Amino acid sequence: MNDLVGVYGAAGCGRGILPLVRAQLAGTRTRLVFIDDGAAPGTINGHEVLGWQDFLALEAGRRFACLAIANSRVRETLAARCAEAGVALFTAHAENAVVMDDVVIAEGACLSPFVTLTSNIRIGRCFHANLYSYVEHDCVIGDFVTFAPGAKVNGNVVIEDHAYIGSGAVIRQGRPGAPLVIGRGATVGMGAVVTRDVPPGVTVVGNPAKPLIKD
Ligand SMILES: CC(C)(COP(=O)(O)OP(=O)(O)OC[C@H]1O[C@@H](n2cnc3c(N)ncnc32)[C@H](O)[C@@H]1OP(=O)(O)O)[C@@H](O)C(=O)NCCC(=O)NCCS
Repeated sequence: MNDLVGVYGAAGCGRGILPLVRAQLAGTRTRLVFIDDGAAPGTINGHEVLGWQDFLALEAGRRFACLAIANSRVRETLAARCAEAGVALFTAHAENAVVMDDVVIAEGACLSPFVTLTSNIRIGRCFHANLYSYVEHDCVIGDFVTFAPGAKVNGNVVIEDHAYIGSGAVIRQGRPGAPLVIGRGATVGMGAVVTRDVPPGVTVVGNPAKPLIKD
């Protein structure tokens, strides 16, 4: 029986990731669909859209889901749903994404086109690295971390779980044994230049990046 892969989420993120998965599956007999309760039943970009229960009901050999949702909390919820249903997490990897030496990435990552991960890097579950983002040497990245397009993370940086790095943001390098730390659930705004640690849960913007304070 043929394997089945569902790209979970048929919104912008999923529509950018499904073609990567399709390229990875080229030449196999694996069936590829979107999973999206809000858009099912239907067809998007030539691919069938199924609700979660219909995805589980399809006859299949092995069953995988690629979590293509930018919101990290939703990804975490869906990862738990997949684990409960015995659906394995699929890693999407653009053909031209570059991964150098000693890079360990946990399950469920999405590496978009032109992503570069250099050497000696550790990355947790369900990492999203959007177009043109990079991670330099000796970084440690937690679970459910999200990089928007063009996020630039230099060497010796620690990024804790659920942090979000906005489009075009640049993170200054840390030092061996004294990394620059982006705290759990922190948000780095688009275009920010981060020169110091960002505390957990804080949003920073600007150059040099400072906490975003709303009136
Ligand atoms: C930082 C961010 C999370 C703040 O979002 P928010 O809480 O909704 O904030 P608001 O849009 O209400 O903006 C609040 C203020 O901050 C300013 N601001 C927002 N983002 C900013 C940024 N990245 N840099 C500088 N200033 C920013 C706004 O202009 C506004 O200023 P004002 O009060 O003087 O008008 C968001 O703007 C951002 O940068 N998100 C990342 C976007 C991205 O990378 N998208 C990629 C999609 S694939």
